[in-house]
Amino acid sequence: MPTPAIHAARRAELMRRVPGPILLMGSGDRPRNLAMNPVRFRQDSTFLYFTGCRMPGAAAVLHAGESTLFLPPPSEDDPLWHGHVESIFEQAAALGFSSVRPDHALESAVAELPSVATLAVPDLARTLRAAELSGLPLRFGAQHGTEALVETVIEMRRRLCPEELEVMRQTAAVTARAHRAAMAATRPGVHELQLAALFDAEIAAAGLVSAYESIVTVRGEILHNHHRVNTLSGGQLLLLDGGAEAGCGLGTDVTRTWPVSGRFTARQRAAYDAVLEAQRTAIDMVRPGTRYRDIHTAASRVLARFLADEGLLRCSVDEAIETGAHAVFFPHGVGHLIGLDVHDLENFGDRAAYAPGRVRSEQFGTAFLRLDLDLEPGNVVTIEPGFYIVPAILHDPTLRERFSVQVAFDRAESWIGFGGIRIEDDVATTEGAPDVITGELPTAPAAIEALVGQMEMPLGGTA
Ligand code: GLY
Ligand code: MN
Ligand code: MN
Repeated sequence: MPTPAIHAARRAELMRRVPGPILLMGSGDRPRNLAMNPVRFRQDSTFLYFTGCRMPGAAAVLHAGESTLFLPPPSEDDPLWHGHVESIFEQAAALGFSSVRPDHALESAVAELPSVATLAVPDLARTLRAAELSGLPLRFGAQHGTEALVETVIEMRRRLCPEELEVMRQTAAVTARAHRAAMAATRPGVHELQLAALFDAEIAAAGLVSAYESIVTVRGEILHNHHRVNTLSGGQLLLLDGGAEAGCGLGTDVTRTWPVSGRFTARQRAAYDAVLEAQRTAIDMVRPGTRYRDIHTAASRVLARFLADEGLLRCSVDEAIETGAHAVFFPHGVGHLIGLDVHDLENFGDRAAYAPGRVRSEQFGTAFLRLDLDLEPGNVVTIEPGFYIVPAILHDPTLRERFSVQVAFDRAESWIGFGGIRIEDDVATTEGAPDVITGELPTAPAAIEALVGQMEMPLGGTA
């Protein structure tokens, strides 16, 4: 777990690299409907990175080598409604801050400083407050804040330290338990909602939360499918993309796909083997100096070979890669950075994930590649190739026209209803071999089959 000393060292480095005072704004509570009923709070990732502070409504001012934390003081009603809340001095001391002030002193404190550098945060109200305090135009995801601060934060956060990797490993163990629970409860007649509840329950039982809304579906071809409306039938594939988030905010992002009946059909098995080979090929390339886009291409080549063997492509692997035809069946990128955000640093746009001078491809499929850096030790990435039969793509007139030579659209009709397969792990770049942080959860087809349907206990019903 990153300690207060690690947070302090990060703040010291930030102050070394960014001249002048810095205001780090934390997020605040956001009402779900009325103020006392807020949505589940999640602190801004950059604020967590430099402070470890999970309190809603916190801020920090970094200036002349000193850090001051600003915290909302406990209210008189807290003992009644929320139990004992520590004083701001106790909270700050636990986080390693020797200087703390009440939140309402922030305006006067900043007014005494020369202009402050700052960043937008996900919470609109807090971003507006940072904009007023700094005089900067700020909008989360668009107008990020002070240039030098943005650049430095990206550079620092992009490489995870050993303590962070250790937390991800512990969190991955919880994620693996949750996947195993969902696999064990899978059988025909079970509802997607039941598997999702079991998955989330394992994470909750470990005192953690999900890093994102889990995808639990037999319609895995819908890439971010959150509908959970289906009862499972024999012959279908269940795709589960979910991961626990550590208390300090680090996420995990893991996908497995398994047969509802416990046995892959021959067709499912052939596709599964291809996706797995693509994933293993890609994982082996997660090494320093490798360009991430080359990893995407290598995975695409493995899948294109399978597509040609199945008669779904009528062209060579080279032609598929050149034209993008394989993306009809693998329409997304092979992965992304992961850290305090599941798609780490994505709010800063491609400047965090694309090396200078590199821009997104305009080619169908590759346009969704979220990362194109030369990998460095400490970069943690997902590797998540997939194979999908997407009716909306196969029946799209523009794509049918564009790939009329390369794709056997008629033949693909017999695959409609197949769903999707994705296999996703989180992989740390080291000085040497790739470190598959989430690798304890098996991917080999026989091991997956052995885990499905093992739970004896009947599940609670759906409404
Ligand atoms: N869970 C979303 C993704 O894999 O990118
Ligand atoms: Mn992912
Ligand atoms: Mn995922």
